[in-house]
Amino acid sequence: MPKRYLCAETVTIPEAGLPLALVPGTVTKRPQASPYDSIAALYDPWSASVTEDVAFYLEEARRSGGPVVELGVGTGRIAVPIAADGIRVLGVDSSRGMLDICARRAALAGVELDLRVGDLRAPPVDERVPLVICPFRSYLHLQTDRERRQALAAARDLLVPDGRLVFDVFTPGADDIDETHDRWLEREAGIWERAVWDTTARTLTLSVRGAETAETTMALAWIDPEEWRALLGESGFEIEECYGWFDRSPFTGGEDTIWVARRSS
Ligand SMILES: C[S@@+](CC[C@H](N)C(=O)[O-])C[C@H]1O[C@@H](n2cnc3c(N)ncnc32)[C@H](O)[C@@H]1O
Repeated sequence: MPKRYLCAETVTIPEAGLPLALVPGTVTKRPQASPYDSIAALYDPWSASVTEDVAFYLEEARRSGGPVVELGVGTGRIAVPIAADGIRVLGVDSSRGMLDICARRAALAGVELDLRVGDLRAPPVDERVPLVICPFRSYLHLQTDRERRQALAAARDLLVPDGRLVFDVFTPGADDIDETHDRWLEREAGIWERAVWDTTARTLTLSVRGAETAETTMALAWIDPEEWRALLGESGFEIEECYGWFDRSPFTGGEDTIWVARRSS
């Protein structure tokens, strides 16, 4: 039996291992709704070296007891290990291509994920949970404070009283910008990345391309940690922790911030 997304708009996906291109009605025939669709197959090799956050989010999931909602679940890099630990995960993502890969990855790992196509500013989830996570800088896809407020309000609405929102974001340092600006760099073997930074608008236009034809360009935007702090406060959260890295060391002014915020009643 093919697995199915458990979403309002149910999508049949192929069994693990079957090439998507050979399956009618799957990712290859869908309109491009997300810049991630065209690089979905490239995402796992592109992010292969990003492993430092997995144990951290797994620990948060265990602490919560689950279920967990992951906003911007992507290909299940974080969700699959959590589900493999016996914790139910509902994953929301706007990219059908990423969800196809995610479902296949879950099947290969022998775990169930409840995957839904949707926007993290209005996630199609009625359930209330003790933990919402948004790993690997997915909130940088939000372009304005209005969008950030919508996203934080939506995350808050998903939480039970005292539930937690845990996410990570970054604010680029001058060195990083200087070293990478407008240059194609080989991030992983055969996978190239070009970052065009606008330090006035605080936006990053990130292009990614593989050795073959896969290519995309996506828009990201950053704000300072103090601005995240203020937005969280305004959005009904109490900040429990602001780490500077996934080893739980405190934030002391680096590029990364990892927020643990509790829904205030
Ligand atoms: C950097 S990836 C992170 C994926 C995964 N959380 C991980 O840790 O590997 C960002 C993900 O957020 C999704 N995304 C971006 N904007 C979104 C939105 N407005 N609503 C839902 N998903 C979104 C993308 O499709 C992509 O899968």
